[in-house]
Amino acid sequence: MDDRPNSPEARDIRYHLHGYTNARKHQESGPLIIEKGDGIYVEDVAGNRYIEAMAGLWSVAVGFSEKRLVDAATRQMSKLPYYHDFGSKSHSPLIDLAEKLVQMAPVPMSKAYFTNSGSEANDTAMKMIWYRSNALGQPARKKIISRKRGYHGVTIAAASLTGLPNNHLSFDLPIANVLHTSTPHYWREAEPGESEEQFSSRLAEDLETLILAEGPETIAAFIGEPIMGAGGVIVPPAGYWEKIQAVLSKYDILLIADEVICGFGRTGEMFGSQTFGIKPDIMVLSKQISSSYLPISALLINEKVFEPIANESDRIGTFGHGFTGGGHPVAAAVALENLKLIEERDLVGNARTVGAHMQARLRKLASHPVVGEVRGIGLIAAVELVADQTSKAPWGKPGALGGVVNGFLQQNGVISRNMGDAIAFCPPLIITETQVDTLIDAFERSLAAALPQVRPPG
Ligand SMILES: Cc1ncc(COP(=O)(O)O)c(C=O)c1O
Repeated sequence: MDDRPNSPEARDIRYHLHGYTNARKHQESGPLIIEKGDGIYVEDVAGNRYIEAMAGLWSVAVGFSEKRLVDAATRQMSKLPYYHDFGSKSHSPLIDLAEKLVQMAPVPMSKAYFTNSGSEANDTAMKMIWYRSNALGQPARKKIISRKRGYHGVTIAAASLTGLPNNHLSFDLPIANVLHTSTPHYWREAEPGESEEQFSSRLAEDLETLILAEGPETIAAFIGEPIMGAGGVIVPPAGYWEKIQAVLSKYDILLIADEVICGFGRTGEMFGSQTFGIKPDIMVLSKQISSSYLPISALLINEKVFEPIANESDRIGTFGHGFTGGGHPVAAAVALENLKLIEERDLVGNARTVGAHMQARLRKLASHPVVGEVRGIGLIAAVELVADQTSKAPWGKPGALGGVVNGFLQQNGVISRNMGDAIAFCPPLIITETQVDTLIDAFERSLAAALPQVRPPG
């Protein structure tokens, strides 16, 4: 792909193992090297400009050139570049951020706990839940129910909670105590003639059957993303969260809302939990918390979770869990400034109004011959591609068409991501209607370019 032995591309191939990449193919195709960012755009080393239609990894709310975040980091770096929260130590950015998050939460929350990534936060949630069950004298209550196609990260517990085969295969996962229930994907999974409400009731029954089969006294928690992101942007059907929560309350099972993608405005409300009437005991936050300018994540826990943990830490002598970088002062200062920007610029309102425009434009593509389903809410959407709209069959191997269209999108100046045959759109929350039009025009051109491959003329 590049015959200069010391080019950045060649050095990337020589020295760097990429996440979520076919390592063998990468040796042939090499990297796309991104050099700089400007608003919703990024630019590669050759000077090609792209709309970053995934906001990086669903995460850069304020765009790629926000000076106020740079200044916040610089100020904090000069004042106190590092400190931690072990042994009752604290610092102002961490205290301010904890207070801000607890006050922002859509349900009463008690404490914030800081970690560095969504995966670490979910591993921490699992450990907190086990610790709590032991504190309550319920050592059998350790199982966590997640969902097929849910995404919760890649560390050992988080990858186990994730319900996608690529995160389990050859990693010897999932670990014990993790169960997966059905995916709330109405278009793909509903029976003929089943309404959304009926489908949701069936999924709630599936959940109850699983709980009863395992023994309710062994189930500690249920974890779910308000909208499934990496599983293909699956928007839950009508009544889904209400019916699921009714089952969880019946058996006194805690609810963890993984708000890592939905949190901080993505769905047109501050949290996905508000959009879908979810009342979590634990909220997991990351990504848009700092627009990913620096890594930081947090858990919000309610009194029901905090109180037993406090008792157990008192009995043992410490809460034996913590990360060197947890609540890092520079990341916390950036997160605080980022949340200020989200509020000042009403980016949640922008996700609602510009998001409605994006959804409307995408839905106009529903009758396109290779479009199976258009789904989404606010500034998150996916278009699932099929070879045949009636049978919903893929074109060749699943993911092949998604890969082709994603390739054309890149040629047309848009970085998106295909999860199999679902092309995702999750742009920075600062995007304007005009920019959405440019993005969708490029998508239309990409579909048109792919069509002759799926339906060869004649
Ligand atoms: C819903 C959700 N939870 C957890 C994670 C894991 O976050 P991280 O990649 O920061 O470990 C992700 C990442 O995409 C996510 O989308």
